[in-house]
Parts: sequence; C-alpha cells; structure tokens
Amino acid sequence: MSGMKLWGGRFESGPSEVFERYSWSLDFDKRLVDADTRGSQAFAHALRRVGILTEEEAGRLSGAFEEIRQEAENPSYFDGAPDEDVHTFVIRKLKEKVADLAGKIHTGRSRNEQVSLDTRLWLREASALTQSKLADLMAALLDFAGRHPNATVPGYTHLRRAQAVLWPHYLLAYFEMFARDWQRFDHARRAANVMPLGSGALAGSGFPFDREAIARELGFEAVTRNSMDVSADRDFVLDYLYAASVCMIHLSRLAEDWILYSSEEFGWLELSDGVTSGSSLMPQKKNPDSLELLRGKSGRVLGGLNAMLFILKGLPTTYNRDMQEDKEQLFDAADTMLASLDMARTVAESAVLKEGPPLAAAEQSWVVATDLAEALSRHGLPFHAAHQVVGRLVLESVRAGRTPSQWDAASLAAFAPEFARPGVSEDLARLLDPREGMKTRVVKGGTSPSSVAEALAEAAERLRAFRS
Ligand code: ARG
Repeated sequence: MSGMKLWGGRFESGPSEVFERYSWSLDFDKRLVDADTRGSQAFAHALRRVGILTEEEAGRLSGAFEEIRQEAENPSYFDGAPDEDVHTFVIRKLKEKVADLAGKIHTGRSRNEQVSLDTRLWLREASALTQSKLADLMAALLDFAGRHPNATVPGYTHLRRAQAVLWPHYLLAYFEMFARDWQRFDHARRAANVMPLGSGALAGSGFPFDREAIARELGFEAVTRNSMDVSADRDFVLDYLYAASVCMIHLSRLAEDWILYSSEEFGWLELSDGVTSGSSLMPQKKNPDSLELLRGKSGRVLGGLNAMLFILKGLPTTYNRDMQEDKEQLFDAADTMLASLDMARTVAESAVLKEGPPLAAAEQSWVVATDLAEALSRHGLPFHAAHQVVGRLVLESVRAGRTPSQWDAASLAAFAPEFARPGVSEDLARLLDPREGMKTRVVKGGTSPSSVAEALAEAAERLRAFRS
C-alpha cells in the first residue's frame, strides 16, 4: 500500500506494512466520499470568507470536489487506492486536479472534525431513508388490516390463548411500536444534524470561520457548541444504533409471531411463495426463511450497538483512533435495517390471513371467560366472586371436553345460582361468542370494532404526518 499521507514531517521512517493494513479504513469509509466532498466544498467557501483562498481558488477547489464526487460514482474509482482513509484519498485526487492549490484545503481543519462532519451528513440521510422505509412498512400493516377488517383471533399472553381481539387490533400494536421507532430515528437524525466544522482537532480552529454560514450551506439545523466534545462524541452513532436495535427487536417479534401463525400448528397465515423457500430434501416444505432472517439479523444489529457502546466506554477525552471502528458497525446496521424494512414490508404485502382457523381457535378455547366474569360484575357480583364461578365453569367444561358454544342460557342457569339471576344467563349465553365480548372493549385503545375503527383512522392520519 503506502499512499500519500496527510502527515509525516516528524517521522523518520514510514509505517510498517502490518500497521498500514491494520489501520486502513478506505475500504469501508469510501462510502463517505459524497459527504467528504460536499463538506470540503463548504469548507473551501469558509476559507475564502476568512481570506485564505481567493474567489478564484475557492471556485477551482469546489469544481474539483464536484468532479471527484461524480467520478466516485464509478465503483472502480477506488480500486487499488493505497490511501489510509477517504479523506486522504480525496486530497490525493484533488492534488491530481489542482496541484499545489490542494495543499491549502486543510488549513485550520482536522480529520477529527472532518470525520464527524462526514458521518453526520451520511447518517442524516440514512436516518431519513430509514424513516421513510419504516413508514412504508406501517402503510403495509394498515393495508393488511384493511384486507381483514372483521377477522377475530385469539390474543396471547404466555403464548396461551387469552382474549379475543380483532386482527387489525393486533396489527395496530405493531403500528404503535413502529411509530415509536420512527420517533427514535427522528431523534437520531436530529442528533446527527449539528455542524461540527470549526472545532479543529480538539481546541477550536485558529481561523475565525463563520460556522453558521457553513451550517446553512450544508443544511444543518445548528452548530456544535464545544470543540472538545466534537472530537470525542459519537453519541449520534449510538442514537441510530439504539433506534435500529429497538426497531429490529420489534421486527424479530413480528417475525416470530408470523413464523408461528404460518406453521401447520396454527395454520392462520399463508406466506407467499415469494418470501419462502423449499427444502433440498423434503419436497413438501415451505419454510419462512425471510422471517427467520429478520429474527436472526436483529442479533447482528444489537451486536453493533453493543460493540459501539464498548468501543466508546472509558475512552479518554477527546479523539482516539478506536473511534474509527464506528463506521463498519454503523454502515452494517443501517444496511441491515433498511433491507429488513423492505423484507418485512414485502412479507406483509403478500401475506394472507385465513380467517377460519384463528376464529375456531378463539371459539374452542375459553377466551370468553373474562367477558363472562365482567358481565357478572356488571350485574352486581363482586369481580372476585365472578372470577371464581367462571373459573369453575371453565374447569368443569375442560373436564367434560365442552366448548363455550356447547352451553346455552338454560344450562348456564342450571350450573350455578350466580348465573340464574334474572337476565344474567341470557347475557352470558350471548357472550359465549368471542365476537360479542369484544364489543364491550370500547375504551380508547381497546379492541371493540368501534375503537379499532377509530384507531385505524388515527393511524392513517399519523402516517400521513410522518410522510409529510
Ligand atoms: N479515519 C479516522 C476515523 O475514522 C479519521 C481520521 C482521524 N485520524 C486521526 N489519526 N486523528 O476516525
């Protein structure tokens, strides 16, 4: 290797080949070339404003950065480049274009602030793209809800049938998780959207740059407030990794649900051929590999967050080369995050709920037990007593292999004196159908058809706001 260096005067010999290879980052930080050239253009304009560059020189440098950015669109542009990082690479290219003038661009600038700027520019865009793909997934969930507005499924706790809910209500639970994720990515985007140039290596630049003007030119919301903090800070990377980790946890739970729901044991969900794979040996298999990969890749993103937390922990103020490790973790997490959102959306768009089996599962189990107990307490029985007597009804039914629909008002009234009071047994008999009990859950956030309809309308409205 051994490319050009942005340092070297105080060294008598060059770096060893082992060290050069070990510390080389161009292979991954070349992804920052767009940010690096844009940032450098803005910096050239700042240098003109403080009189280091003439108008003509700043124009020439800016034009050269433009060319580099366009040439870098060709992936082979970096082939065989020996430079230690993207910043050095860009300066070498600049030298090829403007000769000695290139030597002026680094006046009063450090790579410590430059790498912060580049990563912030890159991450600002990556966060916005993540938010937009997340909104696409949320839209797909609302569409899925719209395809099955009245489907009734058992909701679970402890993976045991608990209470009946509408399928759209279940999907809206994920809508809420993803809405919170959207906000977390928004926070990550804003955390990155602060302009660090002018900080120098750590002490602030020796040139009186108009930092606000640089921020305006690059579309930043604000400028950083402390030069030492800039060199030391990768919180904005952690913020994205944390948002991505939580979002991947949500995706992994959705994936796990749907792996179960599409199994023969559940038999609710039909995954499309486009997102499943077969077995090389067993001809009958249709495996939910897309969902398993969503579950698996979540581990990878969580690993990235953990790696970055450990890398930063206990580092002495300010910059340390350890921090170069941020980029591979960040890029990999963002790539995985974006691909996973596309994958989850594609699964959701093509999945079909078979409405019969989950309804039967709700009807055959005792998910109506809570509805019965609550009805009794509406008739004046203390809830604890209601819970007891319905518990006995369930015990008796389970022993006898009797499902709720095998009871009626008369047999209920004969079962216990609590059920025999005027009007009670008729009321309870109606609630033996899980779709009836659901109608009582009219609180905001509940699963009654009216609450869910309202929640769906609100969700669509919020989604519109996320997209505007
Ligand atoms: N490549 C380095 C990084 O990603 C930036 C350069 C700063 N290097 C330095 N030795 N001060 O963090």
